[in-house]
Amino acid sequence: MKKNNIILTGFMGAGKGTLARQLQSRLNTLAIDTDDLVESFTNQSIKSIFESRGESSFRELEQKVVDWIIASVDNTIISTGGGMPIFAGRFEQMGRVYFLKADFDWIYNRLKNSPNAEKKFKKRPLFNDRSTAEKLMNERLPLYEQKADIVFDLSTHSEKEIIEQIISDHAAFVSHSK
Ligand code: S3P
Repeated sequence: MKKNNIILTGFMGAGKGTLARQLQSRLNTLAIDTDDLVESFTNQSIKSIFESRGESSFRELEQKVVDWIIASVDNTIISTGGGMPIFAGRFEQMGRVYFLKADFDWIYNRLKNSPNAEKKFKKRPLFNDRSTAEKLMNERLPLYEQKADIVFDLSTHSEKEIIEQIISDHAAFVSHSK
């Protein structure tokens, strides 16, 4: 049984956090980010968790976040770390899952042209180099699609359109699940 949360997934840099903040102001609900939760649980940055404990420990921490959300969070907008739908168990139970899909070049350029671009690459240990990240995204694509209830293509839909569609789809989902 799914919860009523809005779950945003997608590769690193797709803009899950930005969209979550816009949804938050429209829906007047809380928005949380799973990377922020991992960082506050550990009092460590994601980068330093990868460096000092390794990726597998990070995935265990992400699983704790998923378990906590399933047990304790509802009616909330949740942006998720790019690897969470790939590695975490019971991922779909957290809520209605929206996959923000985009071409790799679109994502790369979005990050590269953003303010603080260097910082945005640096804080993501798995986005160190362009071709490895592109390969990783392509490997993950089938699972992102499989774990999603709805897929939106960021290169063919405006942010505004996606927000409207998420709001109306989610309202229908909530009313059916009552
Ligand atoms: C990761 C994505 C990151 C963060 C960590 C690992 C991944 O989150 O969870 O660096 O495996 O794709 P963002 O998608 O918010 O960058």
